[in-house]
Amino acid sequence: MSADRSTSIGRRLPATAATGLRTGARRRLPLVYRPRDLVVLGLGVMIGAGIFSIAGRQAAAVAGPGVVLSFMIAGIASLLAALCYAELSSTMPTSGSAYTYTYVIFGEVWAWVIGWALILEMELAAAVVSRAWSLYAAQTLSDFGVRVPEPLAGMIGQTSGFDLFTLVILVTLTAVVALGARVGLRALWIFVAAKLLAIGAVIVVGALHFDPANLEGKVPAPSGPAPVETDFLHTTVLGAAFGEPHTFGWFGVFAAAPAIAFAYIGWDIVATASEEAEDASRTIPRGMIRSLVFATVLYIAVALVMVGMIPYERIDPAAPLSAAFRHVGEGFMVHVINIGAVLGLTTVVLVLLVGQTRVLFSMARDGLLPRGLATLSRRYHTPSRATLVIGAVAVLLAQTVPVLTLEQMVVIGTLFTFMFVAAGVIMMRQTMPDLDRGFRVPLSPAVPMLSVAASLWLMMNLQLITWVYFTGWMIFGLVVYLLYGRSHSVLAIGAGPDRTEPGRHRR
Ligand code: ALA
Repeated sequence: MSADRSTSIGRRLPATAATGLRTGARRRLPLVYRPRDLVVLGLGVMIGAGIFSIAGRQAAAVAGPGVVLSFMIAGIASLLAALCYAELSSTMPTSGSAYTYTYVIFGEVWAWVIGWALILEMELAAAVVSRAWSLYAAQTLSDFGVRVPEPLAGMIGQTSGFDLFTLVILVTLTAVVALGARVGLRALWIFVAAKLLAIGAVIVVGALHFDPANLEGKVPAPSGPAPVETDFLHTTVLGAAFGEPHTFGWFGVFAAAPAIAFAYIGWDIVATASEEAEDASRTIPRGMIRSLVFATVLYIAVALVMVGMIPYERIDPAAPLSAAFRHVGEGFMVHVINIGAVLGLTTVVLVLLVGQTRVLFSMARDGLLPRGLATLSRRYHTPSRATLVIGAVAVLLAQTVPVLTLEQMVVIGTLFTFMFVAAGVIMMRQTMPDLDRGFRVPLSPAVPMLSVAASLWLMMNLQLITWVYFTGWMIFGLVVYLLYGRSHSVLAIGAGPDRTEPGRHRR
């Protein structure tokens, strides 16, 4: 690889560096995942706070029973994006996922922007979900009558400030990720099975109490801003543009859709397992799409039984599913939900940390972040330094920032990435038509264009304040790039990315 000292705007990673598995003696990730593990990975990271709590909050305050439609809208947007991800991941099976695709297709600056958005998505989501984990864990203890000693009582299940459970879950899972994906994989299977049982119980028991009368007025009339949305910056972009109320009515259904998109976040993280998966160019696209379709069916079923069990005005936003089951006299389901949520949210945080590690590892391997972060532990064969940095940042974030108010930031970062991936499919078909594609998006360029439009539409239904924060995050990222990545990139210094080493076997 010769040095490309021209401009960072024009620098692109050669496709050959991304189409083969990019490995080197010190930077080779072991093969870990069998095809069926990838579906479990997707379900492990998707099914979490989104379905256990955000769905009910949106039904209560924003969309009413129309939340089922919000789930369908977010599901369709996710499926369109997943088809695009599937094509690029089948062409470039690398752990950098959208970051690396963008590096090849659009060049270094855009790759950095997408890498920075992925960091926002995963790091913030890990912080948000670990906080939610603490709330459910504290609730579970209290439901079982476990009395927490007085000095600790104010330190667990807190929505802001120092929280002991949040710290414990993040430190534990960071250690698991540092020890190796295989360690986490066993736990992942068991926990995902348990949470699927809990979700299955919610659907079956909920269906027994389904009352169609609760769905009347599926899309309740608009009723003005929700109580929390009292100022201009908390209106959605579209709501502000059209001067419409953004709760209930169709605006409410659309406004709830991007919040609901949080529940779908995660199938995209399966792509970060590409360098550790057998036959990645075929198995990764399948793993993403199968886990997404499965989760979509479960989500719509859960949303439907929830709003079918209880009039939406009576949903308790603090514990929506539990409130619905208490309402119909099935109090034991509260335990099922709390235990399911504790186990379910554990795997969400675990896979978010794994995915984040792989993206950071890829960015460091390309020199855009300090290359030491791309060093693998000799003993555990994991990017242990990157893992420790990620765990430390997640702890800091979760303990110092009111992350539970920043869920929309996770969503905007993710949707922004989806747009680039969809545009990348169109661009790559034109600029690199002959590359091997294990999966091709049907009806291209119509489907990728629809995907761009769907992601943009959802972004327009996010609050203005989210756009302001996101712009700030991106400007901060560009400053970091100008100060570091631009001059340290392996393409700038002529070191060349690590290359393929064929003939690997699963450990
Ligand atoms: N989709 C994940 C959740 O809902 C992030 O918790």
